[in-house]
Amino acid sequence: GLPDRVRIHEVGPRDGLQNEKTVVPVEVKAEFIRRLADAGLTTIEATSFVHPKWVPQLADAEQLMPMLDGVTARLPVLVPNGRGLDRALALGVREIAVFGSVTESFAKANLNRTVDESLEMFAPVVATAREAGVTVRGYLSMCFGDPWEGAVPVGQVARVARRLLDLGCDELSLGDTIGVATPGHVSAVLTALGAVGVPAERLAVHFHDTYGQALSNTLAALRHGVRVVDASAGGLGGCPYAKSATGNLATEDLVWMLDGLGIDTGVDLGRLTATSVWMAGHLGRPSPSRTVRALSPQ
Ligand code: HMG
Ligand code: MG
Repeated sequence: GLPDRVRIHEVGPRDGLQNEKTVVPVEVKAEFIRRLADAGLTTIEATSFVHPKWVPQLADAEQLMPMLDGVTARLPVLVPNGRGLDRALALGVREIAVFGSVTESFAKANLNRTVDESLEMFAPVVATAREAGVTVRGYLSMCFGDPWEGAVPVGQVARVARRLLDLGCDELSLGDTIGVATPGHVSAVLTALGAVGVPAERLAVHFHDTYGQALSNTLAALRHGVRVVDASAGGLGGCPYAKSATGNLATEDLVWMLDGLGIDTGVDLGRLTATSVWMAGHLGRPSPSRTVRALSPQ
């Protein structure tokens, strides 16, 4: 059946803004995160501690984090390696995410490593973080298809998922980086993961909406027991190292569906929509979210 409550893992400030051509001023980023928290989001992925040349849009992480001192939401950040972890810990970060790939092509493009080399890079990061009492999420990209390799065997997803859990990740997020998944495929992957001892309670889903399937896929995942859903305010997003990736599932579209199903998220849709309209003003283009457009003609 469906749950009474879903936790939304908001990725707009990270997945959304990493893909913008222009660099959003750090004051605007901080205000964006404060407004998202005020709208009731309890987990907001704030930024990444990656190489500044790889993602210049998020090179201001050191400036941003201290500006969020009063924000009570959980503020996870992306960390690929020891250098990134040192930077994050120095700022008092309490939650990180490592980000692995299920496919070799994307591991190379995004991390300059093979899949196994990237898992070796993550091992000491996860161990050190956990010793410091820091919560660790593990992302898996290209779980449902890869722009270079095409179809991705479910066994490959299960292998990387098992490895990330064995490293000590608290939660795994299954990424449909290029938005090609359909609901039957989501069910098949979740069933395969269950069979190798990766239960739905440890999983989140991370759908990009390229083909308009993100909401249907989310519903399929909820029916399989998933209780954490990634989404980005206004549908911002994409990945600079994955061609054909568009924005994430829009948080407003997700909240509209969950409200209708009577599933509690704690999010105030009016405040959230106002925030996305405000951000669209800064980015100079309308939000792609259907719900944002319906609720506030731009
Ligand atoms: P590399 O070139 O192999 O790095 O990149 P390296 O380990 O060889 O180090 C080279 C130099 O970079 C060194 O400096 C390091 O100190 C420095 P030097 O000694 O030569 O002067 N360096 C760093 N500096 C600052 N912060 C760091 C850092 N690391 C090394 N953390 C690396 C490897 C992982 C660094 C690079 O590939 C990288 O930064 N990748 C990040 C790519 C990225 O952020 N992609 C987007 C996020 S993933 C995503 O969007 C998908 C997701 O949404 C889920 C989905 O949709 O599927 C999560
Ligand atoms: Mg993503």
